[in-house]
Amino acid sequence: MKIDHLGIAVRSLSEALTQYEPVVGGHGSPPEAVESQGVRVSFLESGESHLEFLEPLRPDSAVGKFLEKRGEGIHHLAFRVPDVAAALANVRAHGGRLIDEVPRVGARGRTVGFAHPASFRGVLVEFVGAPR
Ligand code: CO
Repeated sequence: MKIDHLGIAVRSLSEALTQYEPVVGGHGSPPEAVESQGVRVSFLESGESHLEFLEPLRPDSAVGKFLEKRGEGIHHLAFRVPDVAAALANVRAHGGRLIDEVPRVGARGRTVGFAHPASFRGVLVEFVGAPR
């Protein structure tokens, strides 16, 4: 399973990109608001994968609460899968807990679904469909 991206929770997208861009290379994508998740995101290419920087739109969003509780840092790990619904069903079939019972549309118009960190040793896992 390929790693599509690593999500990093930050207080400021612009400050994060200013720090990461000269080291990783390239430029972050134009910030995109994902209202359903209460975040603004920017992707920075790194080899065959990406870093996804997440800035909360609201303090009471999931990422806003994460920052308050744990500070900036790695927020989730995203695997690229051919079929997000099948990946979620596979987690459920193995006794895992899901955050999303059905896939939804996430950043970049991609299909996504999240599994609960309790089922992955404390790691929030996202499954993301291939680019369209
Ligand atoms: Co993500």
